[in-house]
Amino acid sequence: MKLIDRLNERRALIGILGLGYVGLPLMLRFSEVGYRVLGLDIDHEKVEKLNAGRSYIEHISAQSIADAREQGFEATIDFSRARDCDALILCVPTPLNKYREPDLSYVIGTTETIVPHLRAGQVVSLESTTWPGTTDEELRPRIESSGLRVGEDLFLVFSPEREDPGNPNFNTRTIPKVLGGVTPACTELGQALYGQVIDQLVTLSSTRAAEMTKLLENIHRAVNIGLVNELKVVCDRMGIDIHEVIRAAATKPFGFTPYYPGPGLGGHCIPIDPFYLTWKAREYGLNTRFIELAGEVNTNMPKWVVSKVADALNERGKAVKGARILVLGIAYKKNVDDRRESPSMELMELLEEKGAEISYSDPHVPRFLPMRKHDFDLESVPLTPETLAATDCVLLATDHDRFDYELIKAHAPLIVDTRGRYHEPAEHIVRA
Ligand SMILES: NC(=O)c1ccc[n+]([C@@H]2O[C@H](COP(=O)([O-])OP(=O)(O)OC[C@H]3O[C@@H](n4cnc5c(N)ncnc54)[C@H](O)[C@@H]3O)[C@@H](O)[C@H]2O)c1
Repeated sequence: MKLIDRLNERRALIGILGLGYVGLPLMLRFSEVGYRVLGLDIDHEKVEKLNAGRSYIEHISAQSIADAREQGFEATIDFSRARDCDALILCVPTPLNKYREPDLSYVIGTTETIVPHLRAGQVVSLESTTWPGTTDEELRPRIESSGLRVGEDLFLVFSPEREDPGNPNFNTRTIPKVLGGVTPACTELGQALYGQVIDQLVTLSSTRAAEMTKLLENIHRAVNIGLVNELKVVCDRMGIDIHEVIRAAATKPFGFTPYYPGPGLGGHCIPIDPFYLTWKAREYGLNTRFIELAGEVNTNMPKWVVSKVADALNERGKAVKGARILVLGIAYKKNVDDRRESPSMELMELLEEKGAEISYSDPHVPRFLPMRKHDFDLESVPLTPETLAATDCVLLATDHDRFDYELIKAHAPLIVDTRGRYHEPAEHIVRA
């Protein structure tokens, strides 16, 4: 049976490489509509958990993994099994290195691992966010080094992920999916691959255009968040509540989209992806000034918040040194358990450097598991009248819905609110 028919008839074996925040929901979606899925990951622990029907992501239930297992899903660390797959979808990380340059080592490493196991009649899709040209300049030559010709023997597309973890209004099926193939035949196979699982495909003329689309989406957010963060500082100096202003501006029924300031940029995408373009643009002798400027404003936010904490304590005759500061929310955004690039980490470190006694509370992160760049030997503190009253300052960094805001307001002696959660001014609430 031809590849296109296997895809259209849901008889294809779908290989997903990288079973994280992107790969796992995608696996569930393919599984849900009847495809068999093989998950490939280098992390033994994840593979074991999945095969035992367990989940390691809060918003993905163990039941959904168990259901996928019944449907034929299996996870493995054996990459030679890529050969059995009709489709291979790469969902591996694309971070920045310590010089804030793209680190494509995961994408390239995965590609080189599977190249010996590729065969004619497969479609390969890259979903990781990356600079325009990656699929064509990095993946294509490596794949063709096997002797297979892209567009004839094997089909290659770029189709970025648009997952918004924790957003109950959209899911993998209902989020339109952008897709660009290396050749028209590649695009056709890409459409067959995703056509059964996604309601709306948005097909572009090239992989480069698809890569750039994903970057535009994230740059758009980074720049607009930078703008409101800058305006927050201006409003603060002028004695104006930026959140009140944004709420009012958002009543304009056209031509305005609200973005919200915060303690800094977090997550695996918005603080990182724009710099993939910055790096690539240099090859063309161009500077991406909006991206750099937004990066500068957003990067300075944690320091600005810490200065507001210091001022607020100072006004109450206290120093940061020795102050008991309880950070509320260490995930990078509300209602999720993802701490990657969370500004809360930097807030905690900056405050600790100044001698504060740091604790945290986050219903989504019961224990502080060590991260690549951060480590604290802490467990989430339960919010009670006693634990709140025992602090000098509560720093609201991530406004999870599960926090009891009335309780916090009633018992914390000082609240520094970086999210505009408290609308009504109060003597002990400081906006930052
Ligand atoms: N998290 C999101 O909301 C989101 C949204 C859109 C796009 N993206 C992009 O999707 C990509 C993946 O992000 P993520 O959040 O799923 O990352 P993640 O860290 O949650 O998952 C990546 C997975 O890949 C595995 N892995 C690492 N190296 C591997 C290799 N060589 N072979 C196979 N597996 C390997 C890891 O063990 C991990 O399970 C990134 O490019 C990211 O920018 C993420």
